[in-house]
Amino acid sequence: MKKIPIIIDTDPGIDDAAAIGLATHCEELDIKLITTVTGNVDINKTTENALKLLTFFDKDIPVARGMETPLLQPVYGSEVHGESGMDGFDFKASTHSVIKEHAVEAIRQLLENHDEKITIVPIGPLTNIAMLLLLYPKLKSKIDKIVLMGGSLSGGNMNGPAEFNIWADPHAAKIVFESEIDVIMIGLDVTNQALIGEEELSAAIKRGNKTAEMFNAIFQHYRDGDMENGVVMHDSCAIAYLLNPEMFTVERKHVKVVTSGPASGMTMEMFEELETNVSVATDIDSALFQEWFITILDKML
Ligand code: RIB
Ligand code: CA
Repeated sequence: MKKIPIIIDTDPGIDDAAAIGLATHCEELDIKLITTVTGNVDINKTTENALKLLTFFDKDIPVARGMETPLLQPVYGSEVHGESGMDGFDFKASTHSVIKEHAVEAIRQLLENHDEKITIVPIGPLTNIAMLLLLYPKLKSKIDKIVLMGGSLSGGNMNGPAEFNIWADPHAAKIVFESEIDVIMIGLDVTNQALIGEEELSAAIKRGNKTAEMFNAIFQHYRDGDMENGVVMHDSCAIAYLLNPEMFTVERKHVKVVTSGPASGMTMEMFEELETNVSVATDIDSALFQEWFITILDKML
């Protein structure tokens, strides 16, 4: 089977932890690099959390530390994922360390040296990706597509219209959305329907699945949903799309990113006759998502 070479750009983050766990147990994916960015918590914590997750999952994947602040606006400290960014579970100290290259340099080197195109999977603010495109625009030709968790055409989670990953660095998002790269936007329109809770985890926990126990512990501290009805697996939807695009309804649209004023961070669908610039996931088969999630979880004993 031909594996899909990917880079995961992340701000772990409780739902990032689930996405990274799932991705590292999908044999269809060849994760070349994990890059971290300030988002849910600051760069020190997102980087430490990425290293702790790879230690927990016993996966040897290079991690490069990325941008400490958004391109132009100040850092925002979210409480949604707890103080550490992965509250609720006592992770062992990481046995991995970051590579010496900055995330943007590490992505540049990989794109330059890899024969085939690489898919980039941002599941946090887009600061690293925007910096790459600003510094090395010629490398766009080495990017197969960008499958990002972010945005929303149906209301935000940071203010009326804005979703966190776009809101946290709207200038970076504008650069990515206007890059003319094949961008697939996996936004709140679908991720808010991707719920995992006690009911879905309990059977795996009963089977002694240590990852299910860890997910159950950190999900209790994730303030985006609740364990009874399910917490929102935003970032895992980007991984699910890579492996099962048929799980989603996707439509080509022209989407602008608002970068100033009270609606800053909004991803706005433009109806006038503009060239489309992004493929937007507008619906998801939620039952299929849950089935997929548990199938991969069962591999993560
Ligand atoms: O809006 C949800 C997104 O913001 C997810 O990526 C979550 O981890 C936070 O970064
Ligand atoms: Ca995230």
